Amino acid sequence: MALVSAKHLCLRLLLCVQLYVAKTARSSVDDDVLLPYAHGHGPSHSHRHVRDCQPLIHGNTTHESWAADNHSGLVSTSRMFVKNMQGAPRWVHGHMTVVHDPLRTVSVLEPGGPGGCGMNQRSTVKETARTAGCLYAQNAGFFRTQSGHCLGNVVSDGRRVQDSGGVQNAQFGIRRDGTLVFGYLSQDDVLDQSNPFVQLVSGVVWLLRDGEVYINQSLKAECDETQETGHFHNFVDVVSARTAVGHDADGNLLLFQIDGKTSVRGMNLWEFAEFMKQSGAINAINLDGGGSSTFVVDGSLASYPSDHCDNDERWCCERRVSTILCVHPRRCQPSNCSGNGDCIDGRCQCRQGWQGVGCEARVCLPPVCGPRGICTASGCVCHAGWRGHNCNQVCPLGFFGLSCTQQCRCDDPCLCDPQTGSCNATLPEETNLTLHTAGQCLAKQMFTLWRREEEARREPPHLTERTWLILILSLTLLLAASLLLHLERGCRGSLAVRFPKHRDYSYLPLTDRAAACAGGDTETPRRRHDSDSQDEVWSQTRSGSSEL
Ligand SMILES: *[C@@H]1O[C@H](CO)[C@@H](O)[C@H](O)[C@H]1NC(C)=O
Ligand SMILES: *[C@@H]1O[C@H](CO)[C@@H](O)[C@H](O)[C@H]1NC(C)=O
Ligand SMILES: *[C@@H]1O[C@H](CO)[C@@H](O)[C@H](O)[C@H]1NC(C)=O
Ligand SMILES: *[C@@H]1O[C@H](CO)[C@@H](O)[C@H](O)[C@H]1NC(C)=O
Ligand SMILES: *[C@@H]1O[C@H](CO)[C@@H](O)[C@H](O)[C@H]1NC(C)=O
Ligand SMILES: *[C@@H]1O[C@H](CO)[C@@H](O)[C@H](O)[C@H]1NC(C)=O
Repeated sequence: MALVSAKHLCLRLLLCVQLYVAKTARSSVDDDVLLPYAHGHGPSHSHRHVRDCQPLIHGNTTHESWAADNHSGLVSTSRMFVKNMQGAPRWVHGHMTVVHDPLRTVSVLEPGGPGGCGMNQRSTVKETARTAGCLYAQNAGFFRTQSGHCLGNVVSDGRRVQDSGGVQNAQFGIRRDGTLVFGYLSQDDVLDQSNPFVQLVSGVVWLLRDGEVYINQSLKAECDETQETGHFHNFVDVVSARTAVGHDADGNLLLFQIDGKTSVRGMNLWEFAEFMKQSGAINAINLDGGGSSTFVVDGSLASYPSDHCDNDERWCCERRVSTILCVHPRRCQPSNCSGNGDCIDGRCQCRQGWQGVGCEARVCLPPVCGPRGICTASGCVCHAGWRGHNCNQVCPLGFFGLSCTQQCRCDDPCLCDPQTGSCNATLPEETNLTLHTAGQCLAKQMFTLWRREEEARREPPHLTERTWLILILSLTLLLAASLLLHLERGCRGSLAVRFPKHRDYSYLPLTDRAAACAGGDTETPRRRHDSDSQDEVWSQTRSGSSEL
C-alpha cells in the first residue's frame, strides 16, 4: 500500500517537474511578456511597455509621504479572509497583514538573500523567508520571468541594490527616519542622501492615492500614449493573483495577498483597490510576483501559494520569484546603530553627542553654534571669518574666509578683514592683537612664503632654468667675495708683517665700537665696511617689530 502511494507521489512529482520545464521553455519564447504558466495564468502585459516609460530624472515630487507608526509592542497581525465579490459572484481568498513600526519590522529582501538580484536568482518566498527568519512574507518586486533579472529600484536594509534610472513606476519605500513613501520617484529622490531610503521596491500601478482610486492616472503616468492601448489595460482589468502594499491612517503598513489564477480566480485591480480602500488603506501600490502570489507564515511553517495544481498539490507549485517583503521581529535600523549607539529592544539608544533613529547624526543644537554658524548633521558650519567647534574663534591673523583658509593679500599681510579679506579692516574685538601674536603672524607668513617658494622650486621644468641662473649667480658672487676677502687679508697680512706695531689697530671689539657710535664718533669708511653683518640684522629686526 505504502509502495503504491510512494509510486503515485513520484509520478505526480515527475508530472509537476515536466510541467515546470514545459512552462519555462515556453516562457523563453518571448523574453518580454509574462508567461509563467500554461493556460494563461498570470498577467500577460508586456514588461517593455511598462518599463520603457519616460524616466523622471529631476523634477517635481509626485509621491505621498506618511509618518510610520513607531509604537512598541506587537509586530503585526495577519488574518485570512474570504470575500464574496458582489456583481460578479465569486469567492476570493487572501491575507491581510497589519504591520506596526514598519521601519524596524519590514525589509525588502533579494531572492535567496543579499546578492540574489545581482545573480539573477529566483527563489520561492518560503526559501528566502526561512533564511531571513521572517514572521510573514509575500512576493514583492517585478522581475523578468525568463532571466530572473530584478526590475526597478531595490533598496534592502539600507543597501542600494539597484536603481531604475528614474523610470516612472509606482514605488514603495521607507526612509531612514521612518517616513513611508508611495508613488513616483525621480532618480534624484532615489539617490537622495539627506534622508535616504532604507527599503525600496518597485511595483506597477499606484492603486490608491490619498484614499482615492488612482488607477486611471497611473495608466497615463506610468506609460506613454502607446502603452495606453492594449496590454496595460488588460493587466489592470484581468482577475488574477495579486499582492500589494499600503498604509493606514496610523502609519501601519498593510500587506495584501490575493489568491488567484489569471482570468479564472482572484481580483482585477479595480476590485483590489476598492477592497484595500474599504480595509483602511490610504496609499497603496500594486506589486507583482510573476503572475503568482504566495503568503508565508513563520518563515516556512505555513505557506499559501496561489499556484495550486488543478488537483490542489500546493507543495510542488510554488513559483520561484524575485524580491519579497518580509516582516520580522523588531530590529534596529541600521542594525549597528551607525556605530554610535546600542540596540536595545529593537531601538537605537544613542550615545551622547549622537541623534537620529539610527544614531546617524551629531547632536548640534542651534545655540551650540552661536550666532556665527549654522547647525548641520555633521556639526557647526561657521560663517566666513570664524572657526572652532562653536564658531567662537576669529580667524588667526593673516587669514580670512570660510574655515579661515584664505591668506590675506594686503601691504601688511597680517591685517585684513577676517570675513572678506579686505585690506581696510576693523578687526573684531576677539582678535588677540598683541605684539606677540603679530610676531607669530609674521613668522607664519614668512614660513608660508618660504614653503610656497620651496614648492615652486620643486616644480619642474620651467623654474629650473631660473633657479640654476640664481644659483650660478650666487655662487659667482660668493666666489668673488671670497676672492676679495682673500686679497684683502693677503694685503693686511703683508702690512702686519711689515708694520707689526699697527697690528692692534685692525681689531675693534664690537661693544667698544657701539660705544664709540653712541658717543657720536664718526667712523671711517674703512671701519664701516668692517662692521659685522650681525649688527645690521639687529637694527633691522628692531625697526621691523616696532612698526608692527
Ligand atoms: C514644480 O512645482 C512648482 C510649484 O509647485 C512649479 O513652480 C515648478 O515649475 C515645477 N517644476 C517643474 C520642473 O515642473
Ligand atoms: C515616533 O515618531 C514621532 C514622529 O513621527 C517622533 O516624534 C517620536 O519621537 C517617535 N518615537 C519614538 C519612540 O521613536
Ligand atoms: C477611469 O476612466 C474610465 C474611462 O476613461 C472611466 O469610465 C472611469 O469612470 C474612470 N474611473 C475613475 C475611478 O475615475
Ligand atoms: C554599520 O553598518 C553599515 C552597514 O549596515 C556599515 O556600512 C557601517 O560601516 C557600519 N558602521 C560601523 C561603525 O560599524
Ligand atoms: C576704511 O574703513 C573705514 C571705517 O570702516 C571707512 O570709513 C573708510 O571709508 C574705508 N576706506 C576705504 C578706502 O574703503
Ligand atoms: C589673548 O591672549 C592671551 C594670552 O595669549 C590670553 O590670556 C587671552 O585670553 C586672549 N584673549 C582672547 C580674547 O582670546
